[in-house]
Amino acid sequence: VTPASDASSAVRVLATPDEMSAWSDDARRLGQRIAFVPTMGALHAGHVALLEEGRRRGDRLALSIFVNPTQFGPREDLSRYPRDLPGDLAKAAAAGVDVAFVPVPAVMYTAGHQTTVQVHELEQGMCGATRPAHFVGVATVVCKLFNIVRPHVAIFGQKDFQQLAVIRRMVQDLNMPVEIVGLPTVRESDGMALSSRNQFLSPADRTRAAGISRALFAARTRYASGERAASALVADVQGALAGSVDRVDYVDLRDAQTLQTLDLIDRPAVMAVAAFVGQTRLIDNVLLG
Ligand code: PAF
Repeated sequence: VTPASDASSAVRVLATPDEMSAWSDDARRLGQRIAFVPTMGALHAGHVALLEEGRRRGDRLALSIFVNPTQFGPREDLSRYPRDLPGDLAKAAAAGVDVAFVPVPAVMYTAGHQTTVQVHELEQGMCGATRPAHFVGVATVVCKLFNIVRPHVAIFGQKDFQQLAVIRRMVQDLNMPVEIVGLPTVRESDGMALSSRNQFLSPADRTRAAGISRALFAARTRYASGERAASALVADVQGALAGSVDRVDYVDLRDAQTLQTLDLIDRPAVMAVAAFVGQTRLIDNVLLG
């Protein structure tokens, strides 16, 4: 891998699991705490916030950039998923990343690979309903990355709320010695959640896409003024989305901890949306209570 600029050359780029684990073992031998931010690249300010948190929480900061093929369905956007390694390494250097693990798929999934990790209940519904293999792909690759990078703490964004719940459960169930930290979604000034996929949006679609966060914020305001019926809040969001997106995948209100569906909001909850604007599938959520 050839770094693109002087800034990016400060980040050590490793391509094989053995090199990455050796780096971590050296750091651990020195008593250093390793913070880790796993990503699929195309880094934006949301990722930078995760890296900055990692910098605060660790003595050494590791980043992975790997567009994981196993978490994409056959008709999804794997081939057009944005890739910008030179730009990513420059941002990583500016954020104080020490090492970037950048493997290719053949290194992560060697011939004969057949082991997966499945978090059975939390992957049901929401994104799991229309992306049936997605969370097995995510849990498996995150498990592999934890085994390779051997971090003390790993930082994820709450925009992928179900993903974060799946990872927390996996870590608990499999006794993985990693602290999981979730950070609030970083947004544009109009409320739109940052996502690597936002760059697919035309200017007109980008304007319409802001309707997703607007709908969620309106539901949060109605919740704050006393509404506790899930059906009323879900109907509000569905109604608001009808005017801005092309297709709603789901609007769901769930227990923020267990992701069980809720009729009445009597505990911390998450209102989550997935919707298509043009060909681009976007997700977002807000916490209630
Ligand atoms: O959130 C992501 O970018 C990915 O799902 C992750 C956690 C890096 C696994 O590929």
